[in-house]
Amino acid sequence: MKVHHIGYLVKSIENAEKDLEQLGYCRKTQVVFDPVRNVDISFWENEGYCVELVSPKSEASVAYGLMKTCKNKPYHIGYLTGCIEEEIKRLKEAGYTQIDTPTEAVAIDGKRVCFLMSPDSGMIELVEICREH
Ligand code: NI
Repeated sequence: MKVHHIGYLVKSIENAEKDLEQLGYCRKTQVVFDPVRNVDISFWENEGYCVELVSPKSEASVAYGLMKTCKNKPYHIGYLTGCIEEEIKRLKEAGYTQIDTPTEAVAIDGKRVCFLMSPDSGMIELVEICREH
C-alpha cells in the first residue's frame, strides 16, 4: 500500500509548523479546521515525504485522549486505497480493529478516510483515492 502521509499529533500547530519549516518542509495546505474530528490540520511535504500535523481543538475531540500518550510525535501512517470498504474488510480479517466509519476529510479534498488499529503495530488511516460506488 502506498504511503500518503505520516500523521503527527501536536499541542501547538503553529509551533510544529515552525519546526517543519526549519527541516525543509514546504506547506501543502493552510491550517484547515475539521469539524467532524474537532482538530486543526495542515499538510507539509519534503522531497515526496508528506507530514500531517493534527492538533485537537477541545476535549471533545477524539484525538484529545491520544495526547496523553502521543503528544508531539507521530501517531499514524495514512495509506492510499481503492475501495475503502473492501480494504477495511481485508484488514479486519488480518487482525485490525476498525476505529471509526469512513468519513469525508475536509483537509484531504473531501476524500473518505477511516482509522484502524493493529495490536502489534499501531494505528493506520486509509485514504480513499476515488469512490468506486
Ligand atoms: Ni492522517
